[in-house]
Amino acid sequence: MNAPHPAIRPFPAVPPAVRMADIEAFYAMEIMREATALERAGRSIIYLCVGEPDFAAPDMVMQAAEAAIRRGDTHYTVALGIAPLREAIAGFYQTRHGFALDPARVAVSAGASGAMLMLFGTLVNPGDEWLMPDPTYPCNRRFISLYGGTTRLIPCGPQENYQLTPELVEQHWGPNTRGVMLASPSNPTGTTVPFEAMRGIHAAVQRRGGTLLVDEIYHGLTYTRDAAGNFSEEPTALALGDNVFVINSFSKYFSMTGWRLGWLVAPEAHMKHVEKLAQNLFICPSTIAQHAALACFSPEALAIHQARRAEFAARRDYLIPALRKLGFLIPNTPEGAFYIYAEISNLSDDSFRFCTEVLHGAGVAITPGRDFGDHNAHRYVRLTYTIGVPQLTEVVARLAAFLKR
Ligand SMILES: Cc1ncc(COP(=O)(O)O)c(C=O)c1O
Repeated sequence: MNAPHPAIRPFPAVPPAVRMADIEAFYAMEIMREATALERAGRSIIYLCVGEPDFAAPDMVMQAAEAAIRRGDTHYTVALGIAPLREAIAGFYQTRHGFALDPARVAVSAGASGAMLMLFGTLVNPGDEWLMPDPTYPCNRRFISLYGGTTRLIPCGPQENYQLTPELVEQHWGPNTRGVMLASPSNPTGTTVPFEAMRGIHAAVQRRGGTLLVDEIYHGLTYTRDAAGNFSEEPTALALGDNVFVINSFSKYFSMTGWRLGWLVAPEAHMKHVEKLAQNLFICPSTIAQHAALACFSPEALAIHQARRAEFAARRDYLIPALRKLGFLIPNTPEGAFYIYAEISNLSDDSFRFCTEVLHGAGVAITPGRDFGDHNAHRYVRLTYTIGVPQLTEVVARLAAFLKR
């Protein structure tokens, strides 16, 4: 056989970019892959590993999407989003948080993910370092590494409610640190940063000339109630000052994950840079989703979102004590999101192996801690309560039977 022509390089002809070595896959996806294979083979699997509401967008949102399609509102929009939606988002800050926000500071995006891509694109220079708690939502640091920056993960345990404190920020600030990113409530822990601590973190960041970025994607999904029994609203970090960047999304509180719509609030001076990036990266967010999202803010839609919040609260209040009885350690009750980050050192010394065993032995899919950082990750698992109490009862029965073996 003839040797290949020297100009023909064997596959893969082009090696992947060096940066790809820094981008890790989700271990949760490995569990998902195994779970779906078991399900195809006839096993009953209950998924507690999915980070999205089980609810669909309310009817009025779907109808608004249909109407937009029929009207022909399906073309590109301006890059930062249609004016009525930017105004509606700003108006929501006023009604929910009593915070007056200029709609010109709102950039509508392809989910919070699109917002982060723009945010870090406008802020991160190669070599810059950003501080985040460990555990944290993993994609943040991938975005930073795409732009040549690095992330310093700061171990945060139950003593810190798994969140950064002003002292930790002071202690870990280094010569290349440019800022701090945190989420409140957080994925994977569901815990929040009290507003006074947030103020302290902001002050620490300002003293160093850095930037504070707050992911408020789980805002509206907190379950603390006031004396009258109404949910207490967590204040927005925007109230700390005009130099704070906030991201949010229609994915979680508004149950619109697949619609791919979120937003970024940036200081006014940054908006022209955000706009340039938005034009180049995305042209615009989904036009249909933008028109649909306008229907999220009517009193009727908000009543539905609040009823769903109450449902999540009931699920949390059922699941946490039940898990504690089974030996899962949950020292701090998570205040929000739909996650429980449970320590399993009573049950196993390797949470990845534990997740695999629970999947095979109990037919319950949960996520190992190692997706979210390094700090004691082998001792933690994340469970989501994105299924109803009847199914959660079945989960608890399955786990009890499995753990008795
Ligand atoms: C903390 C956090 N931020 C951002 C996102 C991205 O959400 P989306 O792009 O759907 O708005 C997620 C998704 O799970 C998340 O948990």
